[in-house]
Amino acid sequence: MHPVTLTHQRLTLRELLLDDVDDVHAVYGSPEATRHLSFEPRSREQVGLIVARSMVSAVAPSRTEYALAVCEADSGQLVGLARLALEGQQAATIGFAIRPDRWGIGHGSEVVQLLLALGFDVLGLHRIWAARSPENAASRAVLERAGLVEEGRIRDHVHVRGAWRDSIVHSVLENEWTRPTQASARR
Ligand SMILES: CC(C)(COP(=O)(O)OP(=O)(O)OC[C@H]1O[C@@H](n2cnc3c(N)ncnc32)[C@H](O)[C@@H]1OP(=O)(O)O)[C@@H](O)C(=O)NCCC(=O)NCCS
Repeated sequence: MHPVTLTHQRLTLRELLLDDVDDVHAVYGSPEATRHLSFEPRSREQVGLIVARSMVSAVAPSRTEYALAVCEADSGQLVGLARLALEGQQAATIGFAIRPDRWGIGHGSEVVQLLLALGFDVLGLHRIWAARSPENAASRAVLERAGLVEEGRIRDHVHVRGAWRDSIVHSVLENEWTRPTQASARR
């Protein structure tokens, strides 16, 4: 499916544009935002390549990757990234990151709900899962609030910052997902 534009309460998911590179770099180039991720802070040049690759994958004949901009709906400001990648049978993995100066106001929780709406309502998936660092308490909080239950540990899942790191896996099935109402998702 292309193009994706999904809005919930305060946030919109939309396709990435070349003009987004500086705003994406504010997230992927940030040591704080990438502390628990599977990669080290990216240079602006690396972010340019990521955005370009995402734009190409967005128009692939059988699209398997949705790497999307997270924008505040009222201002249009890009404040994060959201990714859903199809894999296996009617299943996908999700990832997300918000600019550190916008943490703690509910954006992460809303992005997860938007990704679940994309996966279940738009793409008709059965299972959506995410892998987080065992130390990533904020990610655990937003995943659990959205109904993704902890289902286990992948040992030595990623090699990052010179060492192997386990991941904790969370998942939700289509029949378990409670679609948020406009009122209940607002914090
Ligand atoms: C994870 C992330 C998206 C959360 O975004 P956010 O906009 O702050 O999320 P919300 O405001 O919706 O909720 C954050 C929750 O984490 C909790 N939290 C934040 N830091 C925490 C910490 N150090 N320990 C425990 N809980 C913490 C908050 O209390 C809040 O939970 P609550 O509402 O139950 O109190 C954001 O921290 C981020 O972008 N991190 C870097 C990238 C990343 O780790 N992505 C996840 C990859 S799996």
